[in-house]
Amino acid sequence: MTVAIEMGHTTAGASAALDLEELLATRLLVQGNSGSGKSHLLRRLLEQSAPWVQQTIIDPEGDFVSLADRFGHLVIDADDHTERGLQVAGERARIHRISTVLNLEGLDAENQMRRAAAFLGGLFEVVRDHWYPMLVVVDEAQLFAPAVAGEVSDEARKLSLGAMTNLMCRGRKRGLAGIIATQRLAKLAKNVAAEASNFLMGRTFLDIDMARAADLLGMERRQADAFRDLERGQFMALGPALSRRPLGLRIGPTDTQPRNATPRLLPLPEATLEDARAVILAAPPPENTRPQRRSSPDLLGQLMAAKSAALEIRPEAAEQSLSAEELAERRERVDQILCAVMAEPDAGFRAIGVLYQEFVVRCRIAGLGSAVPDLTEFRRMLTRARAGLGSDVAEDDAWQDVSIRASILPEDMQGVFMMIARAAKEGWPCPNDAAIARAYGSHSLRRARRLLTYIEEQGLIVCQLDGAGRRIVTLVELAWATAPGDPNAEELPVD
Ligand SMILES: Nc1ncnc2c1ncn2[C@@H]1O[C@H](COP(=O)(O)OP(=O)(O)O)[C@@H](O)[C@H]1O
Ligand SMILES: [Mg+2]
Repeated sequence: MTVAIEMGHTTAGASAALDLEELLATRLLVQGNSGSGKSHLLRRLLEQSAPWVQQTIIDPEGDFVSLADRFGHLVIDADDHTERGLQVAGERARIHRISTVLNLEGLDAENQMRRAAAFLGGLFEVVRDHWYPMLVVVDEAQLFAPAVAGEVSDEARKLSLGAMTNLMCRGRKRGLAGIIATQRLAKLAKNVAAEASNFLMGRTFLDIDMARAADLLGMERRQADAFRDLERGQFMALGPALSRRPLGLRIGPTDTQPRNATPRLLPLPEATLEDARAVILAAPPPENTRPQRRSSPDLLGQLMAAKSAALEIRPEAAEQSLSAEELAERRERVDQILCAVMAEPDAGFRAIGVLYQEFVVRCRIAGLGSAVPDLTEFRRMLTRARAGLGSDVAEDDAWQDVSIRASILPEDMQGVFMMIARAAKEGWPCPNDAAIARAYGSHSLRRARRLLTYIEEQGLIVCQLDGAGRRIVTLVELAWATAPGDPNAEELPVD
């Protein structure tokens, strides 16, 4: 049986078809500058073949999630899953033969590469029983198989390039048919491009891309100049699944629309200059203190720095004249004031500066005068308190260890880490997403999960799910583990 996928019409007006069986064996490379119609072409191909063959789309921009509505693809938001989770998801997608969209929108380059590699790895590694044919479409493939090293870590590049090479070079035997699209052929790793036997070449401007295209197609470079004149949606086709000679074709319409449609021109809203001034020049929100993600932290250096910082904080001149009793009493009063501030409705979601002002006022009223903790100390106290840790816990010896480890994290994440550490130390169930979000001062469960992933990527914890979907978090160096806890539980854990 041969299945012909209707792609559109040839310039001569005949219908242009893609032989699906042949495509599975010989792979496809699509190239064309941004706006030439590659994603549209891929969408047409996916829609037309959806009834015939399992497919997956590695989707850096979240363009293809709309396929889910019409064709039932499962959308996997890569942001919500660990690399391990995605690898397993890839294996299961093959075992259960579910078509998927791997949405990598919103991740930085490093994480896009790592997670795409993990998912592709799962598709590739599945055991032989499940080697059914499958289309694996990668849009903007130069992101995953770059020709030269970029700003990402060597490890990420190696993983991603390895996965793409496996897909294009060794996938066939396992039923995987790679279909890759790129806007810049010169930016795509040569070995990955070279494995495709079918080409669809769209509008191309740069000489260097044109030259690469001509080489791949076995054309004279002069002939390749014609790629400059192609219109949007027009492609030159060549290959065993398409045509034995270069054939011009125009891609037909699609049933679904890209979610991120190109911005259209709209009339500008009417607003007075005064309104505009008020909106545009309003005072900026309080500074976000979270540092940029660090891709590969120098762990040792940071641990050392944190350790010496922790030692410096200890003896405070003003406190030395107070007796231990007086100190304890003062700490207790400060704790009470902190509790009062935190007990205000919505305190968990207010900017730290606002909370601190309120805290200072209350301390002054309580006659604490010059002994009011400064903002840094306040932030630390708040972090501990949000994580459900009293100042008594913080004094405990084992906690010195935990806080030194925590200090490699951005300050606003430390409380969450400590909360989890506490649960692990005591063998309590792992806090659910809602509790983590609350400790982070956020309403967003998604953000809570992202936060866990981030902490995991820093090498501090390992998250696992048990058979019942309950989460277990292990602290890497201390080897403390939480009891299993349902991440989706709505109830906050009892303190
Ligand atoms: N064959 C086509 N028919 C109709 N519209 C098209 C066609 N090809 C592309 N378009 C439209 O042109 C725009 C750019 O196409 P797109 O596929 O996103 O380009 P690329 O992925 O190459 O950057 C999109 O709005 C798309 O819907
Ligand atoms: Mg595109």
